[in-house]
This record gives sequence, C-alpha cells and structure tokens, in this order.
Amino acid sequence: MSQLALFGGEKTKKTPFGTGKRFGQEELQQLKEALDQNTLFYWSGTKVKELNRKFAEMYGKDYCVAVSSGTAAIHVALGTVGVTAGDEVITSPITDMGSIIGILYQNAIPVFADLDPHTYNLDPKSVEEKITDRTKAIEVVHLAGNPADMDAIMEIAKKHNIKVIEDCAQSYMCNYKGRLAGTIGDVGCFSLNDFKHISAGDGGMCLLPDEESYVRAFRFADKNYNRFSKDPDETRKIDFLAPNYRMSELQGAVGVAQLDKLESICEQRNIYGDRLSEGIKDLPGIYIPKIEQGNKSSYWFYMFRIDEEEAGVSRDEFSKALSAEGVPNQAGYIPACVYEYDMFKNKNAYNGTDCPWGCKHYGKEIEYYTSMCPTAEEILKTAIRLTVNEFYTMEDCDEVIQAIRKVAEYYKTER
Ligand SMILES: Cc1ncc(COP(=O)(O)O)c(C=O)c1O
Repeated sequence: MSQLALFGGEKTKKTPFGTGKRFGQEELQQLKEALDQNTLFYWSGTKVKELNRKFAEMYGKDYCVAVSSGTAAIHVALGTVGVTAGDEVITSPITDMGSIIGILYQNAIPVFADLDPHTYNLDPKSVEEKITDRTKAIEVVHLAGNPADMDAIMEIAKKHNIKVIEDCAQSYMCNYKGRLAGTIGDVGCFSLNDFKHISAGDGGMCLLPDEESYVRAFRFADKNYNRFSKDPDETRKIDFLAPNYRMSELQGAVGVAQLDKLESICEQRNIYGDRLSEGIKDLPGIYIPKIEQGNKSSYWFYMFRIDEEEAGVSRDEFSKALSAEGVPNQAGYIPACVYEYDMFKNKNAYNGTDCPWGCKHYGKEIEYYTSMCPTAEEILKTAIRLTVNEFYTMEDCDEVIQAIRKVAEYYKTER
C-alpha cells in the first residue's frame, strides 16, 4: 500500500488540470455586431431576441424571456405563475440564495422539503407532506446537473393544483427520461452567471409553455410595461408591481455565441462525471451521486458522500488527504441548509421587520430550525465536492479516480 501524500508519500496528481479559453472570436464578433447596432437596449436590438429564439429552439419550446440573472429568472417565474403575498412555495434546502430571493421579494413564504440522500434533489414524499392550503408552487432545484424526480413531482402538483417552477441554474442539458429539465414544469429557469456551464457575465433565461405566460413573464421582467402595444398610454398601464430584470444586448450577444458551445460543454462534463463514478463506485464507504436510470447529468460539479464508519475515516480527513494527493476539493457544499441561515432562524428578511412571515395575508406560524430536513443536513456533513470542467481531460479524470481510490483503500486497510 503506497503512503498517502498527507503523510509524506508521493502525490497522485502531479500534472495540472486541463484548461482552456471560454470566450473567443465568436463572442468578439457577436459583441461587435451588438455595438454596431448603435443601441444596447433589448427591445430595439436583435441579440437578446436571437438568444431567446435560439434557446427556445434548442429546448423545443416556443417561448423564452432572457433576463439579467438566474435569480431574476426565478423571480420572474414566480411572478408569472402568480405567486404573491402569503403564498407558500416549497423548495430545496440545498441551493443558492438565488432560488429563494424571488420568493421573499414576492412576500411569499419559503417552505423547505427534504432531499433524496443520493440524488440530493427533492424527495417527492417530503414535498407532499409539506403541502398546505397555502401552497402555490413547488420550485424544483435540479442540483449539479442531475434531474429531480419530475414524474412524481408533477403528479403531486397536478393532484393539488399547484404550479411547478424548475430551477435549472446548475442543470443545462440535463435529461430526465428523454426530456430536458426546464421543459417539464410551468416555467424553466437558467443562469448565465460566470460560474455556470455557459456565461454572459451575468444573465438568466425563462422558458415558457404558451403565449399567455410568455407575455406575463416578459412584462414581469420589464417593469410590467406592455411593449407589445403601439399606444404609449397602453404601454404604461401598470396594474401591479414588477421589477426591471432586462438583459442588455451585450449579454445577449455573448449568450448567443456561448449557446453554440453549450451542447459540447455538457457532453464533455457528462462523460467526465460518469467516468468518475464508474471508477470509484465499488469503494467501501464511498457513495457516488445517483443518476436515476434513463437520466443524464451535465455535472455542474461532482459530489460524492462518505459513510465515515464504513470508510474508516472522517469526511474532513478524507478531504484533506485527497487535497494532499493533488485533487482540490471541498468538504461539503453550502455551509448549512438554507433554512439554518440567520435570516431564516431570525425571520429577518426585510431588516428589522417580520415581513413576509408576519404579513396579514399569511396569518400562519412557521419556524425554521436545525433538524428540519435531516437528510439534507446529513448530505452537507458527509459530502465531498469536486470541480468539473469541460477542459479537464480523461487523464485528469483517471488521476482523480486513482487519488480517491488510494485514499479510500488506505483508510479501509489501516483502521
Ligand atoms: C441552483 C441555483 N439557483 C439560482 C442561482 C442564481 O443564479 P444567478 O447567480 O445567476 O442569479 C444559482 C446560482 O448560483 C444556483 O446555483
């Protein structure tokens, strides 16, 4: 048995991970064309329109609204399906704040359901338990490129007559039983922030099922202005509050160029992630992320779990040993479940007030506390997260596998 690098042995990964340029001539050309239009306003220019058309086409939908961020896309989706003050929205406790912000800005109440221990996505049974007469929508987060159990979730939504929003910020080209995540619920939301599969610096997309919801989303993303009307008085007939989440032509231009690269980026990541799983799935105490039969992940990141007892090592020591082998990783993901953040525990969203929880339109009590979603909490305590990148090579992948195997086998034998 070779000595771990953590204890002075030779490290497994000695060469740097593959790298590459995300932006090139294609983006430059698009940006030049955008500037040559002499306007960067989406309604006057062509780039955001082109991005909407191409994105909708790629996803086999007729309607798409580009916005300023993934957070904005989710807020727009909530506004589009009619989430308002006092409504409850059920969502995942392991996610980015961007999934939650729009719920609170609608003065609605986030309700957290527990997760499947191995897909890290919403557990439909827990979702159903959280439904009340106030539930307006389920916001499904497809975590890290892996689709949630959409058949079961859609079934629950249908039974209770509630809407479904898909948060695909981490899950482009994520395939659920032959359908793309983002096309199954009422609205599909995506992020173009700089850390996602594709980037426009910042940006977001909403996929809509029909013209009526398209118009609602379009208006909700642009101050509730009705730009489809030729009559200026009609344009500014405002009947309720909506923010300004417009995408600029510069973002649209970069987005158009990035879109051409999306499928190959997702394919590379899928091959890399699946190969990694294949290489470590037999190790005792190591639990690979579960991609259900018939599904395909685009691995925004790769997260596996350690059963400390079975593996003979703590998660934190495993993580350190893996780093020493030359494989950067993170013990866990977000520091705690979202409902454990101070804002929730203290119910302090609008600083110094109890809104929206104290809103008269809610009129109910809800508490957020540790142990609320035990499986989600356990995932965060036992997970190790690795970066996935489309520029990583198969050699990188094999060296990561070797490093994980070396660490796992060492502790299994040594204990
Ligand atoms: C699951 C999830 N939802 C929403 C967002 C928000 O996206 P953005 O940063 O573009 O606002 C993110 C971003 O990290 C995310 O990972």
